[in-house]
Amino acid sequence: MLEINGVTRRFGKTVAVNSVNLQIAEGEMVGVIGRSGAGKSTLLRMINRLVDTSEGAITFNDVVVTGLKGTALRRWNRDCAMIFQQFNLVPRLDVLTNVLLGRLNHRSTVKNLLGIYSREERIRSIAALERLDIAHTALQPAGTLSGGQQQRVAIARALMQEPKVILADEPIASLDPLNAKVVMDSLADINRREGITVITNLHTLDTARHYCSRIIGMAKGEVVFDGPPIALTANAVRKIYGADATGETVREDITSTAIKTPPPPVAARGLEPVLAG
Ligand SMILES: Nc1ncnc2c1ncn2[C@@H]1O[C@H](COP(=O)(O)OP(=O)(O)O)[C@@H](O)[C@H]1O
Ligand SMILES: [Mg+2]
Repeated sequence: MLEINGVTRRFGKTVAVNSVNLQIAEGEMVGVIGRSGAGKSTLLRMINRLVDTSEGAITFNDVVVTGLKGTALRRWNRDCAMIFQQFNLVPRLDVLTNVLLGRLNHRSTVKNLLGIYSREERIRSIAALERLDIAHTALQPAGTLSGGQQQRVAIARALMQEPKVILADEPIASLDPLNAKVVMDSLADINRREGITVITNLHTLDTARHYCSRIIGMAKGEVVFDGPPIALTANAVRKIYGADATGETVREDITSTAIKTPPPPVAARGLEPVLAG
């Protein structure tokens, strides 16, 4: 169980995340949605400790994650894998080595420094690449792969960590629809088969609806919706995305191109929000 208790994060005068309380059970597949600037990334980054909390505590199975240091923090970084929009691979290293880097926090410093990987680790890395259908790229520099392939490498690397939780920050925002589907299918498959908790920020409503059993809607740093897709009514959508968004007139850039929405009435167009990123 991951528990977020009264968590706030301020950047100067900006309150990025405001008094958030959440409990996420093992094995859940959670989608976090909301407009740009709602606090989604900050929330994920606090969970894996890329960003510190200003107030409140995050615990995982009763361990206070927000207080961890040294070896215990490294163990948490291993248990909690992160997938980024921009993949975060080492572009000049080959794909296999990138995947092996997922073992970093499982191994001794000396072995890491010498770059010694066991036969078993190599075999498992190849198996992870095979599962994601990109084993044929194993010896290519990661930077030469397409975005969709790179994100699959990042997922294989995450798998090698043997994580308990996978956090994904807009994992498909830079991908074309076909690769977006492959990446989301892989995350869902890992969630189902390994029972790994997946928490993913998503910029499109229909993706969250399709893949996640639980949707958390954020607006201005606060959780304004928390429930299954079926509870995400037009009213709830409006609460998350703003008063000018209704079930029928949410702009395509927040619902994705897959949903066919009629254009808003001409009179309303001038009032549309400008959605960054
Ligand atoms: N490192 C930072 N320094 C200053 N402000 C930040 C920083 N990170 C996020 N913010 C601010 O916090 C708010 C929430 O940002 P973010 O968590 O990135 O939202 P989202 O991921 O939903 O787009 C925004 O106003 C953003 O400008
Ligand atoms: Mg973000």
